[in-house]
Amino acid sequence: MALLIDHIGELVTNTEITRLHDAAVVTEADRIVWVGRSRDAPAADHRIDAGGRAVLPGFVDSHSHLVFAGDRAPEFAARMAGRPYTGGGIRTTVAATRAASDDELRDAAGRLRTEALRQGTTTIEIKSGYGLSVADEARSLRIARELTEETTFLGAHVVPSEYAGRVDDYVSLICGPMLRAATPYARWIDVFCERGAFEEDHARAILTVGRAAGLQVRVHANQLGHGPGVRLAVELDAASADHCTYLTDRDVEALAGGSTVATLLPGAEFSTRSPYPDARRLLDAGATVALATDCNPGSSYTSSMPFCIALAVREMGMTPAEAVWAATAGGARALRREDIGVIRPGARADLIILDAPSHLHLAYRPGVPLISHVVHNGVTL
Ligand code: NIG
Ligand code: FE
Repeated sequence: MALLIDHIGELVTNTEITRLHDAAVVTEADRIVWVGRSRDAPAADHRIDAGGRAVLPGFVDSHSHLVFAGDRAPEFAARMAGRPYTGGGIRTTVAATRAASDDELRDAAGRLRTEALRQGTTTIEIKSGYGLSVADEARSLRIARELTEETTFLGAHVVPSEYAGRVDDYVSLICGPMLRAATPYARWIDVFCERGAFEEDHARAILTVGRAAGLQVRVHANQLGHGPGVRLAVELDAASADHCTYLTDRDVEALAGGSTVATLLPGAEFSTRSPYPDARRLLDAGATVALATDCNPGSSYTSSMPFCIALAVREMGMTPAEAVWAATAGGARALRREDIGVIRPGARADLIILDAPSHLHLAYRPGVPLISHVVHNGVTL
C-alpha cells in the first residue's frame, strides 16, 4: 500500500536539501520511496493532504528507561522543596520492579511506549537497570525487546543493596552470568559512570567485556559532576556519551575529535532542578549533539521529545533547527542508524505531521500538543 502526503508547507529532510516547501512524500510498505514537489508527486493508494503543515522525520529517542514499576513522585516533591538529586532513589525503583509481575512491567512499559509514539517518537531505545539481578535484568530486557530493537543492558546502574560494600563481587556478576543472560535480548551495553555509581576502572572493565560479547557501547557520563565518563566513552568509541552536563575543555575536545555523540537529556536537569548542559559549547567545538528524554521515574519522568526540544532551545543555546536535527538525525547517529532520522528514499517510513507550518513551532509553542499525525513503519496512527 502506497501513501502520499502532499501539500507539505515545510518538509524537514535532514539531507543536503534540508528543507523543501510545497513538498510531497510517498511511502510504500515500511519505506519512503519518493520525495519531491507536490505537483510532481506520483499517485498512491492513500493520500493525506498536509494543507501547508510541516512534516518532519519521526523523533528518535535514543535514551530511555521504560521498564520499571511504581513512581517516585514524593522524591520529586522533595527536590522541588530543595533536596538535591543523588541517584539514590534508583534502589526504590529496583525494589518495586523486582516485586512486579511480568505483565505489570509489560503493561507499564507499553503504556509509556504508546505515550511516546503519540508524541512523535517513532524509534526508542530502552534500557534495563531496575532489575539488577540476573533474572530481573534478563526479564527487563526481554520486555524491552518486545517494544524495540534498540535495547540496552544497564546492569551497572547502581550497586544493589544486597551487594553493599562488595562492588567487586557485583561487577563480577555483571561481567559473567548477568551479561550472559542479557546478551540475547540486548544490542547495547551501558554503565552509569559517576561517583556513587561505578568508577572508571569498573566501567571500563564492564564495557570491554560487554563489547567482547557482541554488545555495542554507550555510557551515562558526567551527569552529576566532572569525571572520567565522557573520556572513557570516546576512548572506547562509544556510540554515545549521555548527559554531558559537567564538561571540561578536554571532554569537549575529546567529543569533538571522536565519533561519540553527546546526547543531552534536558528533562533530567528540569526534573532535578540542575544546571542545563551547554549544547552551544559542544556544537561550536564541532561535536555531534543528540537530544533524548531519559524517560524514567526518578530523574526525568517525561516521554516528550517536543518538551526536550523546547528546553534545548530556551535553556541550552540551540537554535530550533539544531534542536530538531538533534532529536531526529542526532538520535539516529547516537544509535548508529542510517535508516531513521531522515526523510529520503530508502529510509524507514517514520514521519510526523505537525499542526503547525514549521518546525519552529515545536519550541515557539511549548507544551502544546502539535503532533497531528504519526506515520510509523508506513502505518498512520
Ligand atoms: O539517566 N543517572 C542514572 N540513571 C537515570 C536516573 C535513574 C533514576 O533516578 O531512577 C538517569 O538520569
Ligand atoms: Fe538515563
